[in-house]
Amino acid sequence: MTSPLLIDQSPAWKALLKHKKTLSNTALKTLFEQNPQRGQTFKASAAGLYFDYSKNLLTDETLKLLNELADSAQLPAAIEELFSGADVNNTEQRPALHTALRALDSNTDTANEGEFTSSLAQMRNTMNAFADRLRQGDERGTSGKAFRDVINLGIGGSDLGPRMIVAAFPELQAEGLRSHFAANVDSDVLKGILSQCQPETTLFLISSKSFSTLETLSNAGLARQWLSNAGFDNTQITCHFAAMTSQIEKATTWGVKPERIFPMDEGVGGRFSLWSSIGLPIAIALGSDAFSQLLDGASAMDKHFRNADFSENLPVLHGLLSIWSINFNGHHSRAVLPYIHRLGELPNYLQQLTMESLGKRVTKTGQPCTYATGPVIWGSEGTNGQHSCHQLLLQGIGAVPVDFVATTKAHCEPLQHQYLVANCFAQSRALMLGKSYEQALEETRSLGLSEDEAAQLAMHKAIPGNRVSNTLLLEEFNPHTLGALLAFYEHSVYVQSVIWQINAFDQWAVELGKTMSTTIFEVLEKTASKHELDSSSQALINHIQASHPTP
Ligand code: F6P
Repeated sequence: MTSPLLIDQSPAWKALLKHKKTLSNTALKTLFEQNPQRGQTFKASAAGLYFDYSKNLLTDETLKLLNELADSAQLPAAIEELFSGADVNNTEQRPALHTALRALDSNTDTANEGEFTSSLAQMRNTMNAFADRLRQGDERGTSGKAFRDVINLGIGGSDLGPRMIVAAFPELQAEGLRSHFAANVDSDVLKGILSQCQPETTLFLISSKSFSTLETLSNAGLARQWLSNAGFDNTQITCHFAAMTSQIEKATTWGVKPERIFPMDEGVGGRFSLWSSIGLPIAIALGSDAFSQLLDGASAMDKHFRNADFSENLPVLHGLLSIWSINFNGHHSRAVLPYIHRLGELPNYLQQLTMESLGKRVTKTGQPCTYATGPVIWGSEGTNGQHSCHQLLLQGIGAVPVDFVATTKAHCEPLQHQYLVANCFAQSRALMLGKSYEQALEETRSLGLSEDEAAQLAMHKAIPGNRVSNTLLLEEFNPHTLGALLAFYEHSVYVQSVIWQINAFDQWAVELGKTMSTTIFEVLEKTASKHELDSSSQALINHIQASHPTP
């Protein structure tokens, strides 16, 4: 692979830097005053999503230049590469096949056809049939009783997506069948779940693409022990496990029955895998129809991303605006605030999707990036966050762009939905408009304070404003629009990776922590010497061993 010119050397990047200077004294508020139609101008809709990006500090010229940047980074060709199954994950020489997983039912224009598609169709049918049998009480444990509890053992991409989606639709849960998720290696998590379950009616799903993740295998071991403690022999234990993995042999060796192993392709990345067999907990909890609707929604967003003009292409706009925020306005963090309790897990999910994909410091050809890349993603559900972290968003030093997410049609009681929407829109207005010192002073003067006291208090009450946000509205809250929302974020991440010339689909740094933890585990277990370690690690280990000596 030859090294292209770094993107910050392109004329489009330089033009954006220059353009930013022309906007440095322009307030967002002024842009709204200058163009009363701004809210109608800077918006786009697709696949059941309405995207308002008018509260970004931008003009038509900004969008034109961002488009030129996209062209310089050859974004149109990169989008085609993604959909046509090219090896976009160059360090692992793999395609990224998540869009092919969604194209299956809608029989669309993906090039990932043939063998892959037919094995995928077969896997989807087997998985859906298994999920439906479970929901109907026809899949039974060793004593012949129907399963009542399904526990997903997985972490990262093998946990976050299914966990979030299952929590989003409690009304679709099959009666008498409960779903649980255990990710952390901290045994208190699984123990807490097991205390509510009976061995005879519990099914464990070992969800691990690699079938080698410490947390997941440790929890699977605890699960096996729990069944054994209940008096199950090895054959009986086997009846209580299923697995979703690309490592069929490892799962079989572990003791999962071949007919209970649901394969996934190596070309599906962990954080993009909820659309594969990793989505089995979704099909079990919500039903195969809901799972299909989720895939259809994502597929609708895929078609939009692939075909829509950049001027109205939601993921492209969102991705380019993130670049604008990070590289030209110096905002290195983004808050995601869903005003939908059902989506309380969205910030966690997006944290992995974005930070594992975009937390890179060299380009695809190994050149150090001379510009900032992936943002810190955080957030919490509204309105809860208004009583915890929004103080910093409104008055802290340094702006944090926000993505507000809400629903158009009430997803909860109508009156409470109005409260949610009112608060959501009010927060984006408060961030944009703030409160001037003069307004604050008028307020404090009316309190009957001395002029000095009023002036000092006004300093505390003034809010800078001019803080940017996007607002995303889901027409209606259902699996289809949720699928579209998740695909929207996946594609925005891809757009950003293409502009930054980085690989969104690998995660080499994660390996270092895994290797080091193995060494330290061996030291703790006294099968390796601590002398190779740094003095801080040694002292910490000494402290633990001195406080709680092991035999
Ligand atoms: O955190 C690293 C990672 O590899 C993620 O990318 C992945 O989603 C997670 O671990 C779990 O991996 P696996 O599904 O192989 O157990």
